[in-house]
Amino acid sequence: MDILIRSTPDGVSLAAADILADYARRGATLGLATGSTPLGTYRELIRRYQAGEVSFADCTAFLLDEYVGLAPEHEQSYHHTIRHEFTSHVDFDDARVFSPDGTADNPWAAAAEYEQAIIDSGGVDIQLLGIGTNGHIGFNEPGAALDGPTHVDTLHPQTISDNSRFFDSAADVPIHVLTQGLGTIKRAGHLLMLATGEGKATAVAALAEGPLTTMCPASVLQSHPRVTVIVDEAAGSKLHNIDYHRFVEANALPR
Ligand code: GLP
Repeated sequence: MDILIRSTPDGVSLAAADILADYARRGATLGLATGSTPLGTYRELIRRYQAGEVSFADCTAFLLDEYVGLAPEHEQSYHHTIRHEFTSHVDFDDARVFSPDGTADNPWAAAAEYEQAIIDSGGVDIQLLGIGTNGHIGFNEPGAALDGPTHVDTLHPQTISDNSRFFDSAADVPIHVLTQGLGTIKRAGHLLMLATGEGKATAVAALAEGPLTTMCPASVLQSHPRVTVIVDEAAGSKLHNIDYHRFVEANALPR
């Protein structure tokens, strides 16, 4: 696991954009994430696209997760969010931006179809990830199967509380979600985890230095051969292995 520490959230976004742009230039399949953390990275990739530095015309995207019951046009659906925040601002082919079907009559069947679609595409080359304050990735909450496929999950009260800021009230946050499983995520060729702010420091320390346990789903990154974690100093403040700090402000990234 490479852990890169940057002094600011902007530094995290620039470092992440460097890595993702390299994959985009190769027409890769990108695993995209929603949430606030990757927004700076998306803004930077949009800027580079507008400057003619990168194109997504040959890329495919698979989202990590979706709320059950939100129509694609709902402004809090991840189908809508990823377009609003990123893909519709660059030359991504919209027909190649995939997400689980949150309005399927049978969400369990929709989960299985999504899992198969990822496999049939040849798999995700690089998966962008954020982390929940309780250590979740995608919507794999504590207790998720460490090798599970895309599935229907029930949100932890902490996640409902964290995500209520995007809705009128906590009561409006859907309780059920579709999410790539930890097994799905682990099949990606490269995992790129971003975290910023002090509120993520405990979760970041658990993912990198705690035991590999379903109680911290992000700790499965420890079992993947190619992981890059990029954090700002606040999110990295509870990491104890000071060797990580040699990466602070380094320009050249391990690839
Ligand atoms: C959500 C998403 C995750 C995201 C996490 C953290 O619940 N399903 O994919 O990583 O929250 O979000 P944020 O980046 O806003 O802190």
